[in-house]
Amino acid sequence: MKDRIITTEFTEQDISTEPTLRPKSLDAYIGQNKVKKQMRIFIEAAKNRGEPLDHVLLYGPPGLGKTTLAGIIAEEMGTGFRVTSGPAIEKPGDLAAILTTLKAGDVLFIDEIHRMQRTVEEVLYPAMEDFALDIIIGKGPGAKSVRLDLPKFTLVGATTRAGSLSAPLRDRFGVTQRLELYNVVDLAAIISRSAQILGIAIDPEGAKALAARSRGTPRIANRLLKRVRDYAQIEGAGVIDAKTTATALKLFEVDEKGLDETDRRMLRAIIEKFDGGPVGLDTLATSIGEESATIEEVYEPYLIQLGYIARTPRGRVITPGGKAHLGLENAASDDVSQITMRFFDEEE
Ligand code: ADE
Repeated sequence: MKDRIITTEFTEQDISTEPTLRPKSLDAYIGQNKVKKQMRIFIEAAKNRGEPLDHVLLYGPPGLGKTTLAGIIAEEMGTGFRVTSGPAIEKPGDLAAILTTLKAGDVLFIDEIHRMQRTVEEVLYPAMEDFALDIIIGKGPGAKSVRLDLPKFTLVGATTRAGSLSAPLRDRFGVTQRLELYNVVDLAAIISRSAQILGIAIDPEGAKALAARSRGTPRIANRLLKRVRDYAQIEGAGVIDAKTTATALKLFEVDEKGLDETDRRMLRAIIEKFDGGPVGLDTLATSIGEESATIEEVYEPYLIQLGYIARTPRGRVITPGGKAHLGLENAASDDVSQITMRFFDEEE
């Protein structure tokens, strides 16, 4: 996972560029039009009332701009922005320390909020609901609970798995937004914008070719842009065009749909070890030596978006499109009917 050029995780190589590439306003944020349209209304309405924005939950696969969007919310509201993450808050006291130093209206961003400890989460409930912090003073029968007022703030929580958030936490968000994988047109626009900021020469066809290989994910698009720039610089091509992109990414073993060897290995495993599926997530994960959660959150969303695998109630199946991508076109139509038949047989 760590070494994949197309990983959606934030890696060391993203540290120097990602922050400089982040748009600072909703106008500069490309794509996610439904989310933008709604957030614009909520932000304007809150500002007109002179109130902080409702708490916002952002969810979707990694690398789509949840942190970026949280920063934009603070920027558009004209407030402070504090960033932390579920795993970084180890004790209830850590969260209390953050909450008591917020200023009125501030946006507190908690990334990976599904990984917060239960005891920490319980501090968050009264903070979100009543802008209050309940502190227990003393021990045993003499212990007293004291309520401290907090400034009115906006919590923006981000998660890759909305399903693993506890119901009490989920219910305390007034707004929930799902970020979708980006289409090629939006990704090409993001790549052109990034290239301009980084001073990289790329033509529209080059941007499109790169976008098609970026797995619907701006973080990957920006990373591939830098790698192809390196290639273009060494191989002598001045401007990044479609041909340079294709040649460079072939060298990096990323195919024309943005799949790498791990994706292809997973597709092949479904065909070769499980006869095209359906195969349960855990079984599939064990067979390729990956974690189920990684498959579900990282590999699968893009393969499903491409229509290469499908989720059924009995597990994952490869589709004719997935087979065709591996060069197994002939078997496609027949095998699908077999998969469907076996699927019904097993259910009886
Ligand atoms: N960089 C990363 N995500 C972006 C987006 N949605 N718009 C513009 N630039 C981005």
